[in-house]
Amino acid sequence: MIEPLYQAAENRYLSGMKYRRAGHSGILLPEISLGLWHNFGDVDTLAGSKRKLHHAFDCGITHFDLANNYGPSEGSAEKTFGQVMKSSFAPYRDELFISTKAGHDMWPGPYGTWGSRKSLMASLDQSLRRMNLEYVDVFYSHRYDPDTPLEETMQALVDIVRQGKALYVGLSKYPYEAACRAYQYLREHDVPCLLYQGRYNLFNLAPAEEHILEQARENGAGFIAFSPLAQGLLTNRYLNGIPEDSRIARGGFLKSSALTPEVLTRIRTLNDIALRRGQTLAEMALAWLLKDELVTSVIVGASSVEQLDDNLKALQNTDFSEEELKEIDEALSK
Ligand SMILES: NC(=O)c1ccc[n+]([C@@H]2O[C@H](COP(=O)([O-])OP(=O)(O)OC[C@H]3O[C@@H](n4cnc5c(N)ncnc54)[C@H](OP(=O)(O)O)[C@@H]3O)[C@@H](O)[C@H]2O)c1
Repeated sequence: MIEPLYQAAENRYLSGMKYRRAGHSGILLPEISLGLWHNFGDVDTLAGSKRKLHHAFDCGITHFDLANNYGPSEGSAEKTFGQVMKSSFAPYRDELFISTKAGHDMWPGPYGTWGSRKSLMASLDQSLRRMNLEYVDVFYSHRYDPDTPLEETMQALVDIVRQGKALYVGLSKYPYEAACRAYQYLREHDVPCLLYQGRYNLFNLAPAEEHILEQARENGAGFIAFSPLAQGLLTNRYLNGIPEDSRIARGGFLKSSALTPEVLTRIRTLNDIALRRGQTLAEMALAWLLKDELVTSVIVGASSVEQLDDNLKALQNTDFSEEELKEIDEALSK
């Protein structure tokens, strides 16, 4: 059967998506971005991946977040995205903001991991080939490498921009002190950091507590939150056991050991608060992050179009009363 050609929805910028400026930059990002860490690999169907990507763009999601190792298998999420790029998204390249990263284990031997110039340069070339792209919009150092001089990693990022292979650069999961030096190096070399990417959700408040959010703002960078639903824990997914098709059951990074009785109690209490607000727990968890203007965007994962639609509904109510905030605090401290 010949597939019909994809045509993006004409009302894609009128369907409720809002855009926020990333730090002190010219870039506006959708409040909800889509990540391809899980659900887009070669263990997933291409048709399903396409459906989610098309739907996301049709709803105004212009930002897609990838990394060299996303899959499984490693590299396969970028390959999937490359196929969609070729078959559907090519005419829309200038409407898309695409990121990738290097820094975690990718290929065997000493050069397929961490933050050397050799590793970053080679990895980005591989990513561009897999994704059928000439450049990415933002290239991240995926994690801080304590053994490579920070200057080497940062100079590689600067040179990648000079080579035209990335328009902007970002930092992911850098500890405060290392981030401080990285921001400074990049600024002094006229390639200011666009985005800091960190794990931030109701179950992990570290970016706020460790002043990473404030630090990003002070350095003119946006903050973009990953795993905003704690990989699915902050949803109604696990209220009644572990569904067969869930991330926990599929045996990924989220283990059943994360679902302790205390965590389940917290999930149930938060779920009740969300229902009283007229939201699902997923919607409330995203809205809670987006109430803070220091958060530029949240990168959600989604294993179905329905989940994506649910997550997008979060944008309809990101206001919280004092009472609701107090109830949420109490639920988290139990
Ligand atoms: N920089 C880094 O080191 C780093 C690390 C991790 C992630 N990230 C980025 O952040 C992105 C998102 O991470 P994540 O996948 O952990 O995000 P997440 O949004 O916290 O979790 C996504 C999972 O939650 C479940 N879910 C999503 N929406 C739902 C809904 N409305 N109702 C019920 N369940 C729902 C799905 O689980 P099921 O699959 O069980 O349906 C989905 O796979 C990644 O794709 C990646 O781009 C970056």
